[in-house]
Amino acid sequence: MDLKYINFKKRDGISWVQFNRPEKLNALNPDVLRDLEQAVATCEEDDAIKVVVLHGNEKAFVAGADIENMGKGDIKSAFELTDLTMRVQERLADLPKPTIAAISGYALGGGCELALCCDFRIAADNAILGQPEITLGIIPGGGGTQRLTRLVGLGPAMELIFTGEMIKANKAERIGLVSMVVPLDQLEGEAEALASKLMEMPDLALRAAKTAMRKGLNTSLKEGLHIEQDLFCMLFGTEDQKEGMAAFLHKRKPAFKGR
Ligand code: CAA
Repeated sequence: MDLKYINFKKRDGISWVQFNRPEKLNALNPDVLRDLEQAVATCEEDDAIKVVVLHGNEKAFVAGADIENMGKGDIKSAFELTDLTMRVQERLADLPKPTIAAISGYALGGGCELALCCDFRIAADNAILGQPEITLGIIPGGGGTQRLTRLVGLGPAMELIFTGEMIKANKAERIGLVSMVVPLDQLEGEAEALASKLMEMPDLALRAAKTAMRKGLNTSLKEGLHIEQDLFCMLFGTEDQKEGMAAFLHKRKPAFKGR
């Protein structure tokens, strides 16, 4: 795949989607977002890709939406930019396979919001996260007021969004924004280790768990429990369910086939 702002690599079932606009700390303009959309579409279509890792470089995951581009905007262009952002983010969040944000350096504004669209966030010890939009006279426009609040709760989300404070990796871990902090030189290895662990799991069950949890968040408990019930029961039609339970009973390791 030949993209200008995204480096796309596929290795042993993992796709490594790297933001590639280092001179602007990977700030997101419409061209970067469209390249990301293509990369995500490939991850969706390619059955050989089992886990997706989003990452940047040592200095920045993504330092937010491109302020130079946004600064020239008006109400109409703000709607166009957020429509595009929401389309790409939804596609990423809805990927029927696990996604990991491996964060080094800055993950601010729209960058933090992209990480929030992933299933896992692992941070290097040099990571700086935050939603500094308030300092620009705006509010998060890529899901921050919604996804951040759902992940870390209203109090910590309000603190970050109202003050625009940029926080270090350890504080991000403390409030539950990232699940793990590792030395910078171990970030890629830790992301790969997590991806490999996920790849040992049965595809269809992983997909069902993701669907139940994501759909359940947007509905009532009663409705969510029914979504879970349907997906739980559907899995009894898979070979992997037979294999998983037979392997347990025969005290051996299961060999899942993704069927
Ligand atoms: N948009 C456009 N350009 C950006 C950028 C951004 N979000 N972040 C960094 N850059 C550019 C800088 O302008 C600079 O370009 P030049 O060399 O051409 O001047 C280059 O990247 C390097 O940045 P700095 O020189 O500023 O690097 P630094 O190490 O001194 O500071 C920083 C790093 C603290 C991250 C600082 O760049 C910064 O505060 N960036 C903006 C962060 C921000 O406010 N993000 C939120 C954007 S709004 C948003 O995302 C809305 C939304 O929800 C969708």
